[in-house]
Amino acid sequence: MTTAAHRTRFTDRTVLVTGGGSGIGRGIARAFAAERAQVVVAGRRPEPLAQTVRLVEEAGGKALAVTADVSRADDVRAAVAAAVDRFGSLDVAVNNAGVFRGGQPLAELSEADWRDQLDINLTGVFLALRAEIRQMRSQPAGGAIVNIASTFGAHTRHPGAAAYAATKAAVSILTRGAALDHIRDGVRINAVSPGAVDTPMSLRPGEQETDRADRARATLPLGRVSTTDEVAAAVLYLASDDASSVVGTDLVVDSGATA
Ligand SMILES: NC(=O)c1ccc[n+]([C@@H]2O[C@H](COP(=O)([O-])OP(=O)(O)OC[C@H]3O[C@@H](n4cnc5c(N)ncnc54)[C@H](OP(=O)(O)O)[C@@H]3O)[C@@H](O)[C@H]2O)c1
Repeated sequence: MTTAAHRTRFTDRTVLVTGGGSGIGRGIARAFAAERAQVVVAGRRPEPLAQTVRLVEEAGGKALAVTADVSRADDVRAAVAAAVDRFGSLDVAVNNAGVFRGGQPLAELSEADWRDQLDINLTGVFLALRAEIRQMRSQPAGGAIVNIASTFGAHTRHPGAAAYAATKAAVSILTRGAALDHIRDGVRINAVSPGAVDTPMSLRPGEQETDRADRARATLPLGRVSTTDEVAAAVLYLASDDASSVVGTDLVVDSGATA
């Protein structure tokens, strides 16, 4: 039984995390579970999702894995429905699934890689937002949504990332528009824009973690990349009632890179 003293910001709340099978998404899922949320993780590959569920359950939490491709409307609707069927509501959603296909100058980018990034990073967030908002606005308590954008979007620029940056800048803008459209429906929407985080996505071609650490020490004001826990902390804040008047913002967590 949960006593008042043991209640946290997310006790008994249901949280959906897309891309929850790895990296930042797994960190976010574990952070919510540590605050007693019921966590639903969605992604394309079942095994990484099952591993996140195992980690949450080993820590005493409740979690559910749903195989879903965020670029498919039916999959996203089914993930929201699975969360509601299993746990009774959808209180928080974190639209974190994303891919980086780049490294080369724009003229060398294939049309397939362009479309893949748009489909997953941008259309995927739209489809998820739409399904999540429709569910949340039907609930008396509404809900909160956090989209994972990137500083490589609205905040900074980097060679070899034009298409990815275009999708992520669009996520920042989509967040503001959706937030304005739906705050009166009881759905509060914000974004987090991470800079370089300690997952394989921030490794440059051929780079090892030690090379990245050397690069971060030389170039980032904080002297290191962000941890998945630091990104998760920002997400939990925006999803919590502590941020009840924070609407449509895009919170940068980037070791000071854009300060
Ligand atoms: N790492 C960084 O430095 C950094 C910085 C700024 C922003 N970000 C953003 O943070 C998010 C997480 O990145 P990460 O570093 O944790 O990378 P990651 O480990 O590659 O995580 C991405 C997750 O998204 C899932 N995913 C990809 N395409 C999907 C699809 N179509 N449908 C459902 N799930 C899909 C992947 O699982 P499946 O492949 O199994 O589907 C994976 O679990 C991304 O949006 C990324 O752009 C990362």
